[in-house]
Amino acid sequence: MVYAAILAGGSGTRMGNPNKPKQFWMMGDRPVIVHTIEKFCLVDEFQKIIVLSPATWLQQTQDIVSRYLGAFQHRIDIVAGGAERNDTIMNAIDHIEKAYGMDDDTIIVTHDAVRPFVDYRIIVENIAAAREHGACDTVIPATDTIVHSVDSSMIASIPNRAEYYQGQTPQSFNAKRLKKLFLELSDDEKAILTDACKVFVLKGEKVAMVRGSESNIKLTYTSDMRIARAMMEQEEEGHHA
Ligand code: CTP
Repeated sequence: MVYAAILAGGSGTRMGNPNKPKQFWMMGDRPVIVHTIEKFCLVDEFQKIIVLSPATWLQQTQDIVSRYLGAFQHRIDIVAGGAERNDTIMNAIDHIEKAYGMDDDTIIVTHDAVRPFVDYRIIVENIAAAREHGACDTVIPATDTIVHSVDSSMIASIPNRAEYYQGQTPQSFNAKRLKKLFLELSDDEKAILTDACKVFVLKGEKVAMVRGSESNIKLTYTSDMRIARAMMEQEEEGHHA
């Protein structure tokens, strides 16, 4: 079985409004999180789409799903996220295990709720790569030169940009293997391993790369939200043209 985990458990402090996390902000005529969930609803392979929101936002998330995604409601479960992003992913795995059971072939496609421009191709390629390789990340070639510094003052090296990529999401995994690796982490490792793919890489497990897209931006700062709203307007104009 294949499950999606839409990670919406963050508080969006860098976006500057602690009362309303950015995933609930409006983009066009619907909240960001609705645009994101909808992309996953359009992929039939998902047994369930698990939306993980802050514990204090569970009821609002339920209301938003009922209001904007009524036709897909039966495929959507709403569950509380955790303190850190990886805890949120673990909550998704625990939910799958308890509610549906997990076997050796269970796949989980994890995606940032604040990347609403993910597309169908990226999602289906994630499912295929996670099945074939056990883990995959979505990446695009680095566009800026990457500068390496150890002391945040002087440059230590400038690596060959052609070998560097920028990580996006989805990140998709064999769910059992991901859980096993998480449980093996020490508290110190947990504190630095904020990226689920990095857990695999550090444990010597292979992680395949899926080609992402320039549009698959993450909403972090208010400037990202302005860009996203403009992109959304263009998409909507395209649909009506
Ligand atoms: N996320 C999550 N659970 C957490 C932390 C983050 O599900 N405990 C999700 C966010 O909701 C977001 C994605 O992971 O969809 C990327 O998080 P990011 O934007 O880096 O963090 P936020 O906590 O949302 O924002 P900030 O760091 O600005 O507070």
